[in-house]
Amino acid sequence: MILDVYKEQTEHKHKYLRAYLATWFKILISHKTITNEKYNQIIYVDSFSNAGEYTKHEKGSPLIALEIFNNILKAEKNKKLDIEVKCYFNDYDKTRVEYLEELINKESFDRRIKIKYNAITANEHIVEVMKEIKKYSSKKALFFIDPYSVADDVVSLESLKLILENNDTEIIFNHMVSDVVRNIKNYPEKYETFYQLEKNTLNIPKKGKEFNDIFTNNLKKEINKEIYIASYEFLNTKNVTIYFLVFITHHPTGYEKMKEAIWKVSDGELYHKNTGNKNCENLSLFSNEDNTKLKQEKRAINIKNKVEDLKGILIQKFRGKEVNYEEIYEFVLKYTIFTKGHIQQKTLSPLEKEGKLIRIGTNISNSIYKFKE
Ligand SMILES: C[S@@+](CC[C@H](N)C(=O)[O-])C[C@H]1O[C@@H](n2cnc3c(N)ncnc32)[C@H](O)[C@@H]1O
Repeated sequence: MILDVYKEQTEHKHKYLRAYLATWFKILISHKTITNEKYNQIIYVDSFSNAGEYTKHEKGSPLIALEIFNNILKAEKNKKLDIEVKCYFNDYDKTRVEYLEELINKESFDRRIKIKYNAITANEHIVEVMKEIKKYSSKKALFFIDPYSVADDVVSLESLKLILENNDTEIIFNHMVSDVVRNIKNYPEKYETFYQLEKNTLNIPKKGKEFNDIFTNNLKKEINKEIYIASYEFLNTKNVTIYFLVFITHHPTGYEKMKEAIWKVSDGELYHKNTGNKNCENLSLFSNEDNTKLKQEKRAINIKNKVEDLKGILIQKFRGKEVNYEEIYEFVLKYTIFTKGHIQQKTLSPLEKEGKLIRIGTNISNSIYKFKE
């Protein structure tokens, strides 16, 4: 088996995965269910787990998850002995699964973490895990669906729907639209079912964003429950979309937390902090020129959506209308990738200064916001 090379886009994806997993796990081990029980089964499913490491021993997603869960469990003050963290790792390449198992066996993790390995297709794996976790009553499950390409025989829309039929599950889906854009013209049949495109249609979408919109709309249409979806678009240096990291959940609070975690690691202005490492650059092994190049490359794959976009979204939605803060907040929470922290200082105040809205009222939350025509 040949290990994969750790690409910049993988490193980037892992940054977001780490941020979300830590938030998700911390919330789950400290919170109770609606009926005031504890969640005693926390389930993490990685159906495309790969071998657990890359050519230069960079960690893969299963190891990243295990380390996060283990560190949080270790730091916990009042040890909850009755929880179980179940990790289901799968890859259809058996040699990768064996490699992963060996790697994990060298480590020692908290004994509340239990691991199950499979080497079947992701579609089969999802069915199997869903069948198994149905029996747990107080559980929460997160599925990381991370394929190289899109197609029904890689992961089908039906499989994603199956996961979401349960109220306690959520998904992080790495939607590799670059694969679709590159290949749809030559192999349309590969993508028709996943995107529910009409056969032999002449109107084949061309852009990654169009495919992601089709996918998210289809999912919303087909799931009978409320779902919240936040899609983060990642571009390369040439401004071409590589993939969308799509977060799907049933719960508004989880959704807000999910979005906050993502913004924290993005270069979205809201949470951007100086690292304070400026002086260290002088100690770098690289020349200044190399450093600049390195920084540019680091910035090459980035979240496209910036806080600035929210201004335009609000103007489009509320043009000519008078609304209160609650309505704006509800809309932002439910239908955009932005969070509460983006609303006031980043958007409403600047819009007021730019003369695009008038605020009537004494304080922010009880004001009426009148958007210009
Ligand atoms: C992008 S890699 C996963 C990377 C890994 N999640 C990480 O972040 O380190 C995709 C993996 O999916 C596996 N794979 C491809 N098609 C599959 C399928 N239909 N079912 C299961 N695994 C598949 C490949 O062998 C490969 O290891």
